[in-house]
Amino acid sequence: MNPLLQKAVEQPYCLSRDERIALLSLDDPSELFAAAYEVKRRRTGRSVKLRGLIELGNSCAKDCFYCGIRRSNRQVRRYRIAEADAVRMARWTFERGYGSVVLQSGELESEGNTGYIERIIRSIRDFAGDSFGVTLCLGEQTEAVYRRWLDAGAHRYLLRIETSNPQLYAAIHPAGHSFERRVECLWTLKCLGYQTGTGVMNGLPGQTLGDLADDLEFFRTLDIDMIGMGPYLPHPDTPLGKGIELTPEYAARQLQLGLKMIAAARLYLHDVNIAATTALQALDDRGREQGLLAGANVLMPNVTDVEYRRDYQLYENKPCLDENSEKCRNCLNWRVLSVGEQIDWNNRGDPPHFRRKGIYEAQF
Ligand code: 5AD
Ligand code: FES
Repeated sequence: MNPLLQKAVEQPYCLSRDERIALLSLDDPSELFAAAYEVKRRRTGRSVKLRGLIELGNSCAKDCFYCGIRRSNRQVRRYRIAEADAVRMARWTFERGYGSVVLQSGELESEGNTGYIERIIRSIRDFAGDSFGVTLCLGEQTEAVYRRWLDAGAHRYLLRIETSNPQLYAAIHPAGHSFERRVECLWTLKCLGYQTGTGVMNGLPGQTLGDLADDLEFFRTLDIDMIGMGPYLPHPDTPLGKGIELTPEYAARQLQLGLKMIAAARLYLHDVNIAATTALQALDDRGREQGLLAGANVLMPNVTDVEYRRDYQLYENKPCLDENSEKCRNCLNWRVLSVGEQIDWNNRGDPPHFRRKGIYEAQF
């Protein structure tokens, strides 16, 4: 094996910036993927954790240049799932053994939204107890709001930084979207005791491999527990996506870069949870399975009622628009088995990284 990979398999955090760039530049990444898979296997076994994803609503106060549900996109029919329906979907997720649920929506900061989420979390805790994971993916909020949701029973939060390069961040967001506030939110989440996740898009226009190598360092500096990242995919009704055509060559390049980032993150950080995200599947029917073989250990199957899925399109080519949750469940099981892995049913799937910190704190 390439000595660089050998070193990274044995030891986390040991790759320099140039070495990380070298891994991301490999023409033939098969050895990179194999090395990352070896680390994954040692740290989490040949097992995959599930998070059922509920897309609660698509109204968003933000106007990110890349995102299909941005405020200015008038083509989108806006929806918000009724509380009772959201709780029913979460109960289905629990009863079908998924082990955890993710509540995701556009970014809204209002008492109405805060209370809505709070009540859904409490209802989930009522029927599921503590053994079921509840992750939130609801954007930037005040510390008081994060605290209320934590008190209601959520314990994980995913807030992607999108890119750790402040200049690039500014280029893909309108004025008033603050990089600093996003970073501040991540620190707040950590301080409150959430298992904290972040992530980036890879293959953004203007992004370099150096930026991606720096993203990996950003994950380390924030001592992140989980990572949800994936390739950027153009959406035709957005300023960033308008001129970009999703050709097969473009798709293949984005997929390859997405897989390399997963592998590099696994090799650099070792014991975090890493999701093989839906964006991989949007590029290739077997994109998520490839993600698992490149070092990911989490899948986030959509468990939202099918009637809403079309209205939650962050990017083009979103998969599973018509497959209901039961069908997705069977399909997923088969897909995971097909790469020699097994779903860890009924396990809330805390990242080993967070557990390790817990032990550390208890001992010292
Ligand atoms: N391509 C890929 N990912 C996207 N997201 C939003 N728009 C796109 C896009 N066009 C991702 C962002 C966001 C997450 C919910 O979805 O990273 O944080
Ligand atoms: Fe949805 Fe396969 S995971 S149809």
